[in-house]
Amino acid sequence: MTRKKYTLLPAEIISDDEFSTFRIQFSTDIIRWYDENKRELPWRETTDPYTIWISEIILQQTRVNQGYDYFLRFIERFPDVQTLAEAHEDEVMKYWQGLGYYSRARNLHAAAKSMNGIFPDTYERVIALKGVGEYTAAAICSMSYGMPYPVVDGNVFRVISRYMGIETPIDSGRGKKEITEWASRLIDRKRPALYNQAIMDFGALLCTPKSPGCAECPLVDRCIAFADGLVSKLPVKKNKTKVTNRYFNYIYVHAGEYTYIRKRVGDDIWKNLFELPLIETLQPVTEEELIALPEFRNFIAEGELPLIRLSLRQVKHVLSHRVIYADFYEVTLPETTRSFTAYKRIKKSELDQYAISRLVQIFLEKNG
Ligand code: ADE
Repeated sequence: MTRKKYTLLPAEIISDDEFSTFRIQFSTDIIRWYDENKRELPWRETTDPYTIWISEIILQQTRVNQGYDYFLRFIERFPDVQTLAEAHEDEVMKYWQGLGYYSRARNLHAAAKSMNGIFPDTYERVIALKGVGEYTAAAICSMSYGMPYPVVDGNVFRVISRYMGIETPIDSGRGKKEITEWASRLIDRKRPALYNQAIMDFGALLCTPKSPGCAECPLVDRCIAFADGLVSKLPVKKNKTKVTNRYFNYIYVHAGEYTYIRKRVGDDIWKNLFELPLIETLQPVTEEELIALPEFRNFIAEGELPLIRLSLRQVKHVLSHRVIYADFYEVTLPETTRSFTAYKRIKKSELDQYAISRLVQIFLEKNG
């Protein structure tokens, strides 16, 4: 059975039996990656539905870093449904202050009051709670009760559309349906909680929108987007606003006389040219913001402390359809470093043997 087959056939006509090898491979790879790379988060230590519900509502429009402390404070003050139900709404809002989307807090409070002290334990009753949609119901039911409901958030849309090579716009009804169907078929039915957490982290940390770690990805051999050079195009959004500015953050590594480069994949610009380690961001970032990014931390081996220096800022590079703003950092590590393993280690003196974009060349001529 080839990988292509599954993209050519509608989900309905592949039997579950036929599909199971494919599914097991996918979920095993994702879960193995997660075991090695997961973020330790407090709501992952529990199967208590109340705690998971609170965490998922907080994380709906909020990044994990930002929501973390709110979650801890909220759970400390309102440790169970009863306590939350009995609290005054003003106090609940106070604990939410700064998180935004305040209807989330009002709905939480109203839902807690509707429970009579007991968290519901069927999917139908969970999804009937105020403020709980399909995503949150799937998260609660899988993580608390082990029910095989797939979470389908932005991360999952991206991972599945790339892996399966789905080009239907994800902001269309048809695209949503297609990906949701694949999500239901791909979920690990024996380990839904683990699988759901794993695919979310996989999308948040590795299969990221702008700088996916394809070189380190355990699924790359079977990823259709990768095989077809579509990684940077997927998922497709039909109402996408045309992006003309791009922000590149290059990293020039000094490891004794060595540095790191790799061939650029994807089909946007500079395909097959070599380049320095690169993190693309949606807007300009400061040095502090850059080193806090998961993509940056993924570069650095555990226990290593790189020395970082911003070397050139906002180099403007105009191409036919876009303007690139590039920042260049110099990162110093020991010669024996274990960082940047996804890159090719070469002598700095050999850099001129590789085809490199003009933009990077300009930097190297000044600083190489
Ligand atoms: N974002 C939304 N839900 C999450 C979860 N359970 N873990 C990490 N990030 C999330």
